[in-house]
Order: sequence, then C-alpha cells, then structure tokens
Amino acid sequence: MYEKKIKIEIYNDHFQNRKKYNIPKAQLVIADIPYNLGNNAYASSTKWYNDGDNSKGESKLAGKQFFNSDNNFNLAEYMHFCSRLLKPEPKETNSAPAMIVFCAFEQMHEVIEQGKKHGFNKNYPIFFIKNYSAQTLKANMRIVGAMEYAVVLYREKLPKFRNEKKPDGSGTMVFNWFEWERDKVEDNVPKIHPTQKPIRVLKRLIEIFTDEGDVVIDPVAGSGTTLRACMELNRSCYGFEIDKNFYKEAKEKMLNINYEFEKQQEEARERGQQSIFDLLGVE
Ligand SMILES: C[S@@+](CC[C@H](N)C(=O)[O-])C[C@H]1O[C@@H](n2cnc3c(N)ncnc32)[C@H](O)[C@@H]1O
Repeated sequence: MYEKKIKIEIYNDHFQNRKKYNIPKAQLVIADIPYNLGNNAYASSTKWYNDGDNSKGESKLAGKQFFNSDNNFNLAEYMHFCSRLLKPEPKETNSAPAMIVFCAFEQMHEVIEQGKKHGFNKNYPIFFIKNYSAQTLKANMRIVGAMEYAVVLYREKLPKFRNEKKPDGSGTMVFNWFEWERDKVEDNVPKIHPTQKPIRVLKRLIEIFTDEGDVVIDPVAGSGTTLRACMELNRSCYGFEIDKNFYKEAKEKMLNINYEFEKQQEEARERGQQSIFDLLGVE
C-alpha cells in the first residue's frame, strides 16, 4: 500500500502565472489544449440548428465557441511552461518524464514542431476510437469523424513505461490506439465541460506513464478530469483553469472540494482533529 500523501490542487489562473504557485516538477503533463475553433465549435453538429433541423433556424449554439478562450491559445507559451515544469532527464532508464497533448488532427504538426523548439525532440501520435460521432450534420452524406488524437512528446530518453505484466512476467504490448471508454453512471462523474475527457481514458494513460506518488500537471484543466483521475490513482496533480465557472465546478463537483468544507477541515486540523483528507491521504 502506498503511504505518501498526495496533493490535488487546482488554481483559477492562467498557467502562464505558474511562478505564483509552489508546484513541484512533474513526471507527466497532460493537456487537452483548446482547438482554436473560435465561433465554429458546433459547425459540423446538428446542435447548430433548433431541434437539429435547419428549417427551424439556428439555435443559440450557432456561431458560438465551446468556451471563451477557444480562439487564441498560445502553443509556444504552453511548451515553455512544460520545458520548465517537467522533470529534467534522469540518468537512469525507464523513468524519463513525458507530456501528452490532446489536440485536433490539424494541430498535431504544429504541436510537434513547437515541441522541438522547446527541447522535446521526440514524439509519437496516439489515437482514440469512439463508437459515436459529434459530427451529426450531413451524416447521411459523408464519413463522420469518430476519433480523438494526441501526441506524446519527450526530450530524448523514452518515458517511464508501466505496462501490465502477464503471469509469466513478460509485459503486454500497448498499441497506439485506445478505446474511447466513456464515463459510466457508477463512476459518478459530473458533466461540466463541453470538451470533457473521460476519466477512464485518462486513468489508462496515467497508469502507463507514472507510478503512485508521482506528480502530474494539467495546465488547461477544464472540469478537472485529470485531477480526478490522479486522485483515484494516488498521484499528486496540479491544474490551472482560467474560466471561473469551470474552476468552481471542477473543485466542488468533480473533486468534491467545497470551499466551506475546506474551511471546516482546516479548522478541524487546527483543533488537532483528524480530517477526512487525512483519512483519505489527500493533503
Ligand atoms: C479543451 S478544454 C479542457 C477540458 C478538460 N480536458 C476536461 O476534461 O474538462 C481547455 C480549457 O483550457 C482553459 N484555458 C485556456 N487557456 C488557458 C490558460 N492560458 N491557462 C489556463 N487555462 C486555460 C479553457 O478555459 C478551457 O476550459
């Protein structure tokens, strides 16, 4: 049983302001960067129209963004952040840090090129296969997208790799495609964000690239899914989210950290009582 206490913290701030916070260097950075779709977020979805019917006129989602900042994400600043906050290259093998960037297919090339400019010389793509599609518009006339994309980036040494062991001690192969396993009712995951990632998918990735007690960072945390996945896997996680509402819901609903509750816990600690966080091992 892993004994060390983990930390789960989300800040309502730009990741560019990282210096204000005392964040340890990470084994893994996971980021689902804004797709820079701007006002075209719902362009291939029937949600653009009332009841999905273009004869009924445009809905309130027509010409809207997924969220306020989905138009001017600065990839160079993001890569700079990662070059500072990912652990340095270790001497030993099978322990180097990595970053996973979820992005649109069209962004993959730019992610790779910007990564190289910041010392992340190596990379490979990974794919996620869905059994549904958000591209419902004209679905009877064309092939629809049913995949998500990400790039794994690292400096030189292959990242820490924890594949499942078979009974004979050999390791299982991990393919470069994963099922997009959605949250199930029993997972108790609130729906908060329009581009929210499933906890099961994040957990699978975190288990491959980190050990218990390692530090993970999500610079664009949205609903806090990466933090929740880490909490469930006993990894420390730090996240930034600029949108106040997403931040508040991430804290209160996704992570069950209630401001009032937090205050009460703090007071209980001061009185010397054991808090629920102590019992859970969360600082
Ligand atoms: C694609 S969403 C992330 C969704 C998240 N993966 C989830 O599962 O909920 C990207 C988020 O980054 C936030 N964001 C954009 N620029 C940011 C910045 N400079 N610092 C922190 N957050 C930022 C946006 O408000 C948005 O919620």
